[in-house]
Amino acid sequence: MASFPPFSLLLLLSLLSSPALSDTGKIGINYGRIADNLPSPEKVVELLKTQGLTGAKLYDTDPQVLQSFSGSGISLTVALPNENLTAAAASQSFTDDWVRTRILPFHPNSGISAIAVGNEVNTIPNLTSYLVPSMSNLYASLQKNSLDSAIKISSPISLAALGTSYPSSSGSFKSDLVNPMIKPMLDFLRKTSSPLMVNIYPFFAYAANSDQISLDYALFRPNAGVVDSGNGLKYSNLFEAQLDAVYAAMSSLQYDDVEVSVTETGWPSKGDQNEVGASEANAAAYNGNLVKRVLAGGGTPLRPNATLDVYLFALFNENQKPGPTSERNYGLFYPNEQKVYSIPLTAAEVAGAVAPVAVNGGSKVVVTAGQTWCVANEAASEDKLQKALDYACGEGGADCRPIQSGATCYNPKSLVAHASYAFNSYYQRKARASGTCDFGGVAHVITQAPEFGNCKFPTGY
Ligand SMILES: *[C@@H]1O[C@H](CO)[C@@H](O)[C@H](O)[C@H]1NC(C)=O
Ligand SMILES: *[C@@H]1O[C@H](CO)[C@@H](O)[C@H](O)[C@H]1NC(C)=O
Ligand SMILES: *[C@@H]1O[C@H](CO)[C@@H](O)[C@H](O)[C@H]1NC(C)=O
Repeated sequence: MASFPPFSLLLLLSLLSSPALSDTGKIGINYGRIADNLPSPEKVVELLKTQGLTGAKLYDTDPQVLQSFSGSGISLTVALPNENLTAAAASQSFTDDWVRTRILPFHPNSGISAIAVGNEVNTIPNLTSYLVPSMSNLYASLQKNSLDSAIKISSPISLAALGTSYPSSSGSFKSDLVNPMIKPMLDFLRKTSSPLMVNIYPFFAYAANSDQISLDYALFRPNAGVVDSGNGLKYSNLFEAQLDAVYAAMSSLQYDDVEVSVTETGWPSKGDQNEVGASEANAAAYNGNLVKRVLAGGGTPLRPNATLDVYLFALFNENQKPGPTSERNYGLFYPNEQKVYSIPLTAAEVAGAVAPVAVNGGSKVVVTAGQTWCVANEAASEDKLQKALDYACGEGGADCRPIQSGATCYNPKSLVAHASYAFNSYYQRKARASGTCDFGGVAHVITQAPEFGNCKFPTGY
């Protein structure tokens, strides 16, 4: 079919448009421990290493945990918890002691590279004014030990710190936080060349507005995108739109030079009835596609040159977290170290060069080397899908016998199902090469076996 550009041309175009020159982003993971059934810290460090993870974030400075990271080569962010903020703000001797007993015994062997002072302090009104004084005291304590450049100090804020976040370009901080907390913190971060830490959960926005927000947009799947009415920039996913709302808010206060680290983001694999979108498949899609997006490099529409630095939430399902069901189901792993679902976590896995590493006899969703499938976009027009289907089954050389009347994949008899079968056949026959699952923009790659009735989609010839 002549109307399709040759795939080598598509490949060339995709190479030209990829941000090959910018740094690839970084993926770390939050090691939360609000549970009574987790493996020993030694085992956890082994798990992180097996998974190829090079960054982890803790919520405290438990000595046994810090000791376990000794020599692991993993870069660690540790935390001075909210309950110690007032003491840290009140006296330099508190932070001196804290650094002496909590940091020095484990530095440099345990890889501590950052300290999160408090967590989401913006949501605790009576703590906000203590934040920057405690960061400053801690900084002075690090300076006394010549650790102020080796260990960065910041504090994770939640998206609730924004008064406006849509459209992204109108992002601004809540006015009552600006003077007591945000401005002094951004001044501190600028002075110490440290990033602002931000926790970003597209899941919350989606769950609360599922009638207005496209699930594909929330999960980094192919979608029409959202244009920012303020500056015309186009967003293909909610994560970047939310991150840019933070950048815009910083920009409005003239802190364009301060970087951002996303210290938490995730999607629950289970939720209560009213937690729309919480599911294993959606969690796998969000986290898997996020990792691919981050490791592909490049920044956001508003900050194209920024390097994405993202910590997934979280390593384990944590059975003692209070609140709705979702709170206990953000983990990539069960406490027995089996995967809740399988996603790539390293560049090699993303490239399909190696399979995501299974632990303890395998993941629940079994994925072997390079196992990916190609399917049709449900939102594509019938006309385009039909043309692409005709191409795949004709000139493209896909095996379309199973979707003929009476054959095994004739049912369900839908254009999307039939086109998916044909696209996947073509893609597998081309050895899943880059650019072979596009079909003029009406197809995309997935990492879990497609489900169309009883039809089995092949994975490789
Ligand atoms: C931090 O606060 C907790 C709770 O109040 C307290 O038990 C702990 O001793 C404090 N840590 C330090 C280092 O003072
Ligand atoms: C802040 O408010 C919480 C909840 O009302 C209270 O438990 C805590 O003691 C307060 N902290 C300070 C520093 O006033
Ligand atoms: C990004 O970097 C390029 C190359 O250094 C530069 O020309 C461009 O102005 C930068 N863009 C932004 C938005 O900073």
